[in-house]
Amino acid sequence: MLTLAVLISGTGSNLRALLEAASHPDFPARVVAVGADRDADGLAHAEEFGIPTFTVPYSAYPTREAWGEELAEQLDAWQPDLIVLSGLMRLLPAAVVARYAPRIVNTHPAYLPEFPGAHGVRDALAAGAEQTGASVIVVDDGVDSGPILAQERVAVLPGDTEATLHERIKPVERRLLIDVVERIATGDLVL
Ligand code: GRF
Repeated sequence: MLTLAVLISGTGSNLRALLEAASHPDFPARVVAVGADRDADGLAHAEEFGIPTFTVPYSAYPTREAWGEELAEQLDAWQPDLIVLSGLMRLLPAAVVARYAPRIVNTHPAYLPEFPGAHGVRDALAAGAEQTGASVIVVDDGVDSGPILAQERVAVLPGDTEATLHERIKPVERRLLIDVVERIATGDLVL
C-alpha cells in the first residue's frame, strides 16, 4: 500500500478527489497526512476523511529554507512513500527536494512546458492560446520543470475567464493525478 502525504495551499478540490479515490478498498494507495503552508480551506477535506493534518505557516518563518526544514520534519514523521503537491502554491527549497526526490509529484494546470509557474491558467488566456492542458510531473528544483508523468490537452473556449478555464482543467488534473498515483503504487510507473 503506497502511503501519500499531500501538500496544499487552497481549496483542495484536487486533494478531495484523491481522498475519495483512496477511500475505495481496491485503490493501492492511501493518504496518511495532509499538510499546508497556511490555514488552507482544503484541510477541511482531510478532517472530513479523518486524515491527520499539519500546517507550517510560511509567514511564520524568516526564510524559505527555515520553512522547508520544519516542513521536512513534519513530513518525516509520516514517512510517506510519495509526496503529492496538489495546489501547493510554494516552491520547495532545494534541500527539501533533494531530501525526497524523485518521490515528489505535482499537478499543474497547463500543458508543460507551456505556461509554468503560479499563473499557468492566466498566462494561457493572456497568450490567446486555443488549447492548454493539465500535467503531472516529478518535482525537481526548477519551476514546473521536472519529468512529465502525464498530461492532456484542455480546450480554451471563447469567453473563458481564468476561473471557468481553471474549473475545466481541474477535473483533468484529478483524473491524471489519480492515474499516476495508481501506476506508481502498482509499480507500472517507476520514478
Ligand atoms: C490546481 O489547479 C493545481 O494544479 C494548482 O492550483 C490548483 C489547486 O486547486 N497549483 P485545488 O486547491 O485543488 O482546488
